[in-house]
Amino acid sequence: MLNLDLSNVAQFLPGGWRTGQEPGLRKAHDYVLGGTGAGGEYTGWVRLPADYDREEFDRIQKAAAKIRSDSKALVVIGIGGSYLGARAVIETLTSNNYNLTHKDGPAVYFAGNGLSADAMNEVIELVKDVDFSVNVISKSGTTTEPAVAFRIFKALLEEKYGKEGAKGRIYATTDAKRGALKGLADKEGYETFVVPDAVGGRYSVLTAVGLLPIAAAGVDIDALMSGAREEMELLAKPGMDNPAWQYAAARHALYDAGKRIEILAGYEPSFRFFGEWWKQLFGESEGKQGKGLFPASVEFTADLHSMGQYIQQGERLMIETVVRFDTARSKITIPDDPENVDGLNFLSGRSLGFVAEQAMRGTILAHVDGGVPNILLTAPARDERSLGGLIYFFEFACGLSGYLLEVNPFDQPGVEAYKNNMYALLGKPGYEAQKAALEKRLDS
Ligand code: PA5
Repeated sequence: MLNLDLSNVAQFLPGGWRTGQEPGLRKAHDYVLGGTGAGGEYTGWVRLPADYDREEFDRIQKAAAKIRSDSKALVVIGIGGSYLGARAVIETLTSNNYNLTHKDGPAVYFAGNGLSADAMNEVIELVKDVDFSVNVISKSGTTTEPAVAFRIFKALLEEKYGKEGAKGRIYATTDAKRGALKGLADKEGYETFVVPDAVGGRYSVLTAVGLLPIAAAGVDIDALMSGAREEMELLAKPGMDNPAWQYAAARHALYDAGKRIEILAGYEPSFRFFGEWWKQLFGESEGKQGKGLFPASVEFTADLHSMGQYIQQGERLMIETVVRFDTARSKITIPDDPENVDGLNFLSGRSLGFVAEQAMRGTILAHVDGGVPNILLTAPARDERSLGGLIYFFEFACGLSGYLLEVNPFDQPGVEAYKNNMYALLGKPGYEAQKAALEKRLDS
C-alpha cells in the first residue's frame, strides 16, 4: 500500500486548508466515479483494473509469449499516451538500460514518438538483421508520427519476411471499430487489440496500449493489474483520509497559494520515464484555460548537481513530490580503504541504500527550508504491484485535481494547434488558405 506524507506541506498553507477543500473534492469524486463531470465519457479507466476484457487480456499474454519466442526485437510505434505508459513501466520495473540488461525476450525499441530521421534510422539499423515484430499503437490511427513510422517498419518487415510472414509479426492496437489503422489491420489480417472508446491516451497504460509491450518485456501484467485494483478499491472510498483526496487537496491549495510548478522527483534512474508519463498525465489534463501547475521531473541525486541549485534558490514557484521505493532490490556495501584519501571511511561498511536514504532525507529538509513544500509518496517496492498502485493513484488524483481546478481533465484541445500548422505547411489537401497565411508570416 502507498503511503502519503504531507508533513512538509502544512507550514506553507493557511490553517484549515484541508477541510476547505472537502466539498470540492466530494463533487470531484462523484464526477470521476460516476462519469458525470466534464469529459465524463472518458472515465472508462476508473473501473478498468477490475472490469477489463479477460478474453483480450488472455490474447495479450499469448501474443507477448509469441513475440518473446520468435523475436529478438520489438518495435513499439506510438506517441504520447500511446507510448509513454509502456516505456515508463518497462523501464521502472527493469532498468533504463533494459535493452542491454534483459536476459531473455526481445529488446524493445520505441519509434514513431517524434520525427527525427536519425532516431528512426538508428532503430532500423538495430532491428534489420534480427528477427523482429512491430506493435503499432494509435487510437485515432491518423497521428502523423506513428503513421509515418509504421509505413517504414511495415515495409521493412514485408521486405524481410514477405507479406504473409510480416502479417504474423504486426500487432495493431487501435480503436475497436473506426479509423485508418483499424481499416488497414482488418484488410491485411493483423492481430488487433483495442483502445477502449472511454479511455483517453494518457489514461490507457492498463489497456492493451501498455499491456502488450509491457508483457512482451517479461513484466507480470497480472500483478500490475492486481496492484492497480487494490488501489482502486482503496481510493473509491470518499473522505479526507483518502490519499488521492489528500494529494489533490495539497497540490490545489499550494496552487492557490501561488505555486506554479510541481516537480516529480525519483531516486532511481529507471524511474525517469515514469516522470515522463506523469508529466503527460498532469500536463495534458490540467494545462488549459490559462491554469494548472506545470509538471516537471528530476532524477536525484544526479539532478541535485544541476537543477538542485534552482530548486534550492531560484524563483519560489515550485512544489516537490518525491516518489520513494521502500525496499531496495539489491545491496552494495561501501568498502573500507586503509589509506582513506577521500575521507570516506566513516561510511565503510554502510550500504549505498543507507547513503541514498540520508541524501533523500537531507534534501527534503533543505528544499523545505528553501521554501519548497514537499509531498512524499512511498511505494513498498519497485515491483509490479506497487507500480500498478502508483499508476492508479496518480490517474485518480489527476481526475480529482482537474475537477478542483474546474477544467475538463480528459480532453486536450490544445494539441491540435501545432498539428494544424504542420498539416498546412506540409501541403495537406484542404489547408491551402492556412498554408499561404503561415508562409507569409514565416517569410516576413
Ligand atoms: O493523451 C492523448 O490523448 C495523446 O497523447 C494521444 O495518446 C497521442 O496524441 C496519440 O494519439 P493516437 O493514439 O490517436 O495516435
